[in-house]
Amino acid sequence: MTFLFNSDARRGYIFQQAIAHELPDLSFCMDPASVDADTVRYLLTWTLPDDLRRYRNLEVLFSIGAGIDQFEPARVPDHVKIVRMVEDGITRMMQEYVALGVLALHRNLPAYLSQQRCQVWNALPQVQAAERRIGVLGLGNLGQAVLEGLKPFGFVLSGWSRNQRELEGVACFAGQAGLQAMLSTTDILICLLPLTDETRGLLNADLFKKLPQGAGLVHVGRGPQLVSEDLLAALDSGRLAGAVIDVTDPEPLPARHPFWNHERILLTPHIASVTQPHSAARAVIDNIKRIRAGMDPLGLVDRRRGY
Ligand code: NDP
Ligand code: OXD
Repeated sequence: MTFLFNSDARRGYIFQQAIAHELPDLSFCMDPASVDADTVRYLLTWTLPDDLRRYRNLEVLFSIGAGIDQFEPARVPDHVKIVRMVEDGITRMMQEYVALGVLALHRNLPAYLSQQRCQVWNALPQVQAAERRIGVLGLGNLGQAVLEGLKPFGFVLSGWSRNQRELEGVACFAGQAGLQAMLSTTDILICLLPLTDETRGLLNADLFKKLPQGAGLVHVGRGPQLVSEDLLAALDSGRLAGAVIDVTDPEPLPARHPFWNHERILLTPHIASVTQPHSAARAVIDNIKRIRAGMDPLGLVDRRRGY
């Protein structure tokens, strides 16, 4: 029985050691060309290999990232479980990044960077955290974690999900009506939604109009959720005051794309959070043990929902 690791060797060696220690009955392989395809039960990868069907006895397809939108589920046989990555490293880094983005917008960093470039020494009016309303789209593993990370600053917190949630210290909204209600009371909006047919293009002019004038956006979901032209128009009209953008469509962002030099956009190259091999190996091993014990793995994807 083989665990096939289809990612960079540096992380692979860490997985190899952990699996050898905890699941000694599993062979570990990083080279698809040398593996006996019939023995592969577990595959960890970022994208689907073209010859996926050759792994006839595959049971579990693990994504090396939290997202699984890069997989085409129709190509994955129905009986194969698809599992997204739920691991402490991703969660911790996302908490850091979102705190960074929210604080940057809260403390007017884009405007101060512009002032610095023009040698302008000018203090802008500052809203206190207790009066700044933060709304998170997506209350899954990462959405909930970033809300926890923001609590110590004293912001007013809210969040939106498909199913109604109850979270301490967070006003929770669900469904379309809930979205409208949350947006009207959100000064800084964070997108932490998975990419699905329902969330593609959600961050558009219509949505921006529902935010209070001068709101900010931190986008860490997926590039195709954001309509770039609508963001630019909203920033240029003042509807939005600033945006922190970590994910774009396409990636890498092409040369001459207007995001590169926009003075109200802080741009990073999809680094908000990165899978950490030690904690990710721990999470995958725990999931294999859960599956072997007849339980569902953490992060099991519901194919009908698409996440
Ligand atoms: P989860 O699956 O744990 O959570 C997804 C959340 O989104 C759930 O709360 C879900 O609602 C909500 N949701 C999904 N669709 C809708 C919808 N149509 N309407 C309302 N709510 C919806 O995912 P994670 O928190 O682990 O990750 C979220 C995403 O973050 C990933 O899919 C990925 O795209 C992105 N990401 C980005 C990274 C980066 O570096 N930029 C790194 C890691 C992840 P419900 O709770 O009701 O099911
Ligand atoms: C992920 C990502 O999904 O890095 O983990 O975007």
